[in-house]
Amino acid sequence: MKGKILVIDDDASIRNLYKKALTKEGYEIILSSDGKEGIGILEKENVDIIILDLQMPGMDGFQFLSTIKEKMEELPVIIISTGFGTIENAVKAIRMGASDFIVKPFTLSQLLQIIERNLKMKSLSREVSELKMLQTIFELNKTIVSLLEVDKLLDKVVYIIEGLFHPHKIGIYLPTESSKDFILRKKKVEMEEKWDFPVVLDREFTERLFEGKEIIVEEKDGQKKLFIPLIGKENVGVLVFVDSENRITSRELKFLQIFGTQLGIGIENARLFELINSSYMNAIRSLVNSLEARDPYTKGHSEQVAYYSLLIGKEMGLSEEELEILRNAAYLHDLGKIGIKDEILLKPGPLNEEERNIIKKHPVLTVEILQPLNIRKEEIEATLYHHERVDGKGYPKGLKGDEIPLYAKILAVADAYSAMISERPYRKKMSKEEAIETLKKNAGTQFDKEVVEWFLKAISKKEGKGVVK
Ligand SMILES: [Fe+2]
Repeated sequence: MKGKILVIDDDASIRNLYKKALTKEGYEIILSSDGKEGIGILEKENVDIIILDLQMPGMDGFQFLSTIKEKMEELPVIIISTGFGTIENAVKAIRMGASDFIVKPFTLSQLLQIIERNLKMKSLSREVSELKMLQTIFELNKTIVSLLEVDKLLDKVVYIIEGLFHPHKIGIYLPTESSKDFILRKKKVEMEEKWDFPVVLDREFTERLFEGKEIIVEEKDGQKKLFIPLIGKENVGVLVFVDSENRITSRELKFLQIFGTQLGIGIENARLFELINSSYMNAIRSLVNSLEARDPYTKGHSEQVAYYSLLIGKEMGLSEEELEILRNAAYLHDLGKIGIKDEILLKPGPLNEEERNIIKKHPVLTVEILQPLNIRKEEIEATLYHHERVDGKGYPKGLKGDEIPLYAKILAVADAYSAMISERPYRKKMSKEEAIETLKKNAGTQFDKEVVEWFLKAISKKEGKGVVK
């Protein structure tokens, strides 16, 4: 069978003529005498092409066309018309989505040529859309591998679904840790739409969804609601979206099924990663605490550096994510000191050159500890370069000016200020005013000028006027 053709024509003798001629050519023919009946057939049958008479009593060809094009945009429709009002009708029909237009009388070979051309186009457009889906699956895989934070992964998925299906509403439900309930974790709703899904999905419904492992489609008031189970090793979540234009085809459903499994595995990985990372971070925090416990003079130093770094960062208007990088880097900045012996680290008097050189290794030691962990590159760089100076006389690399990452320049100011206002075994602590004067004096040589300015602005707001002269 070369293809299934639905012929809609009110004239029985013409219908039979089509049937005879086209069956002989190897096509399967379904006949219908009017548009309404034709729509009924399309709901049950998978048709490859439609031959449609324009002039029919009741629902005419145009009405039929506008009804089916809403649902089956890609189905080719060949319009047959008498000579009357030909050009206007042809323009109108093509605008409404008809793929071809033939005027009576025509020969069988003309019709066959048009049918074949339309079938070829259809299979080509199917291949293109399948390629697009394959590409999306590929892109999704890349996303899943690269995004290890659940929230970012969900954002990306919402973006992908929006691009593919243009739904009016999307929601992603994930289970709570303590119960089997799936609660709304991410949603996106078009401007004029309201979110009318529950915050918690019905438990019986989700059990049914995961048991069947199939997408559940609910149709109501011309809207299709799709519930896609996200399945990894366990039941990971539910993706819900509303397609009011009913454009989801069975092929797309298959794609969504695969999507659901991939996404399930992706979310599981990201969750596991977050868990591992947070336990690593906890382990590192306790390492920092134990480091500070060795030296009573530095107790709470990392906390204080984080405080002043964030003060500067907020004053500069950094984003939440950038502030998080700054916070983490501040906590970790001196971690490498854990590898330095007590005799040097805790020495009450000034250090000799050899001892100073050992101390200077601590940024590199920090990086060696952090490297195996999946810590952001920016956090690693901030800790590595927090003793660089803008005049190039710092360590470990002797970077100059803008070669030093911004986060490191912020840490340098916060670190120095925190150290100056704290007691050390070999010197008394400075007053805040003195420390600020020292920062100002060294702005442009040791410290970045702008960062010092931001710091001064922030600290004068925080600790009252009069501190900064
Ligand atoms: Fe340091």
